[in-house]
Amino acid sequence: MKILGVETSCDETSAAVYDESAGVLSNIISSQQIHLQFGGVVPELASRAHLRKIIPIVEEALTQAETPLQQIDGFAVTYGPGLVGALLVGVNYVKALARSLEKPFVGVNHMEGHIFANLIAFPELPFPLLCLVVSGGHTLLVKLPQPLQYEVIGQTLDDAVGEAFDKVAKFMQLPYPGGPQIERIGTEGNPEFLRLPRPLLQDKSFNFSYSGLKTAVMNEIRKLSAAELEAHFADVCASFQAAAIDVLVEKTIRAARTFQLPNIAIAGGVSANKYLRLRLTRRASEYNMRVYMPPIEYCTDNAAMIARIGLERLRRKDQSTTRLNAYPSLTLNEERFRE
Ligand code: KG4
Ligand code: ZN
Repeated sequence: MKILGVETSCDETSAAVYDESAGVLSNIISSQQIHLQFGGVVPELASRAHLRKIIPIVEEALTQAETPLQQIDGFAVTYGPGLVGALLVGVNYVKALARSLEKPFVGVNHMEGHIFANLIAFPELPFPLLCLVVSGGHTLLVKLPQPLQYEVIGQTLDDAVGEAFDKVAKFMQLPYPGGPQIERIGTEGNPEFLRLPRPLLQDKSFNFSYSGLKTAVMNEIRKLSAAELEAHFADVCASFQAAAIDVLVEKTIRAARTFQLPNIAIAGGVSANKYLRLRLTRRASEYNMRVYMPPIEYCTDNAAMIARIGLERLRRKDQSTTRLNAYPSLTLNEERFRE
């Protein structure tokens, strides 16, 4: 079975071909540059850029996979969560394509896609599993008793961790998206330069909070002179990164111990962060736990993960109808909105 996946939930137009036995045959990602000048994603511009890009990106994915459209057995498309106008481009395109070829298609949850990026690299991923899902819009700790079953045990009460990275980076006049910039610059810095809070670290819940940390960094930056900030730029990045990641690592380990889930996976854009990958692996090894991490190219938004979860659903004859619509605030387990 060969699946064509399409992802247009935010500012990446992506298409991928996934083969049931050979794995990823292509994964084309076009990141929209138009937003750089605004320091964040402008929804209307995102939709228009998806409209311009979707056909050439799908064609490129098929060409690279050496798979003519007629050989595609089914389609998968992100229908939420995300920006409504951006999602609609992918949803309508896939609906029309699948209908014209008389092939099955399925709408999939973007966050579920992130989690399934792990199955691309680790087909034998063990269940039950604990997954830390960290992106620009989400910070979730999820128990998966088995594939496709989700129990959210904790989430952010305000900003997502990726959003905090992006906002701090913007404040420091770094380009969007800020996460990779802060990581790159922070590698050289001293993570103990600023004394920053570890929000909700002592709290017994598995929830997170990033709005206060973001404000704390900004306040600390305001106390520095321009010369001090320049001299300690890397130290500020390293200090923020350490504070943001410490909480993720400690809460994940605590949840894994509490629920006796020694197999941990990470997913989403922030899971590309090397400091998180290293710290979590080290802490987990102290408890004989194993951490599964998708290869970097499957951490940030991509259509390979969408095709992979689509395959799982289509194998189970779990298909959508042409009533499928975009659902911007879709949460995990919200099957009822998929038609
Ligand atoms: O999953 P993703 O590509 O899109 C969403 O679903 O939101 O995640 C994007 C987020 C952005 O906030 C970006 O700054 C962050 O992931 N990110 C990182 C890194 N790479 C991407 N944050 C920290 N370190 C990174 N290396
Ligand atoms: Zn994402």
